[in-house]
Amino acid sequence: MEIACTLSTEVLSVRADSPQPDVIVRAAEILRRGGLVAFPTETVYGLGANALNAEAVAKVFAAKGRPGNNPVIVHVADMHQVRQVVADWPEPASRLAQRFWPGPLTLVLPKHPALPDIVTAGGPTVAVRMPAHPVALALIQAAGVPLAAPSANRSSWLSPTLAEHVLRDLAGRIDMVLEGGATRGGLESTVLDLTSSPPRLLRPGLMAPHAIEEIIGTVDRTSRARKPVDSPLPAPGMLARHYAPRAALECAGDAAWNRVEHLARNGVRVGWLTFAAPKSTVLAGITVIVMPPDSSSYAARFYAALHELDAAGVERIVVTLPPDTDEWLAIRDRLRRASTP
Ligand code: TXA
Ligand code: MG
Repeated sequence: MEIACTLSTEVLSVRADSPQPDVIVRAAEILRRGGLVAFPTETVYGLGANALNAEAVAKVFAAKGRPGNNPVIVHVADMHQVRQVVADWPEPASRLAQRFWPGPLTLVLPKHPALPDIVTAGGPTVAVRMPAHPVALALIQAAGVPLAAPSANRSSWLSPTLAEHVLRDLAGRIDMVLEGGATRGGLESTVLDLTSSPPRLLRPGLMAPHAIEEIIGTVDRTSRARKPVDSPLPAPGMLARHYAPRAALECAGDAAWNRVEHLARNGVRVGWLTFAAPKSTVLAGITVIVMPPDSSSYAARFYAALHELDAAGVERIVVTLPPDTDEWLAIRDRLRRASTP
């Protein structure tokens, strides 16, 4: 479905911690009519549609320019809604949900036959999560249906952590944005496939693998690198270039400053994500963003920093690589994808 930028996208402010009921009711009415509403979650902003309405979900794919072979996550507010979208709820799912829901963990399970095929890209499984954000939960409850909601950005570009990021990509293409401030987590949920044995990590995210392993034992972390052949994609974000800024991004180790300086001397406008401000005089044409040293704060700041560099019009982004440890897994994963040409 092609979509013209003809909608007028309404922006409604909402209190993140205690959403105003009248705001939620208006947004829920749009969803019940088959429209699209972007809303904050604890990870990134999502673009929601009634998951049980194939036409509404088709609009999500059109608005994002998302390939039809990339399935979307279904968001639920309670266990009744889980049973509307999954055909099976195995014991490990139950234990993980009890421990981590609502929260940034997405579980892939056999799909319910009544769930429209477009949600799962024609595949036999569905990805489901219960978000830990008062606005998201209130909205799903008020809509009274599970919401199909990928990140609220044009396909393959940066995920949004602010309403203004959503509008930059999707103004005129969706009905409403609920503006609820910066999302706290800043990085997407962890996607775990519970239909394979052992369970497979499909996309690293805010929920650390070792926390999952404490509950259900060993998780296969390797097979997420498997390449898709045709539809549907076996693993998330498998499109080589994903989560990417407009400017070309490259990662660098200890020599990052040399690289930045070299680019600047050659007239390239360059942005640098680093852990420490450079000591030497800053050259013209370099925009430096000093990132927090711990992975949670870094994640919360990550997409916003890249959005800022894009907005500043830099031509090239150099990122000083964080350490190769478990807590940086998801961030290194996004950096790898963002730097794929
Ligand atoms: O934090 C998040 O997960 C955010 C917020 C809005 O909840 N959502 C999000 O959705 O990141 P999206 O569509 O941008 O990413 C979902 C990923 C996709 O890469 C997709 O391939 C994967 O989950 N996925 C969805 N359904 C799947 C399925 N049935 N099997 C395997 N992977 C699936
Ligand atoms: Mg996305």
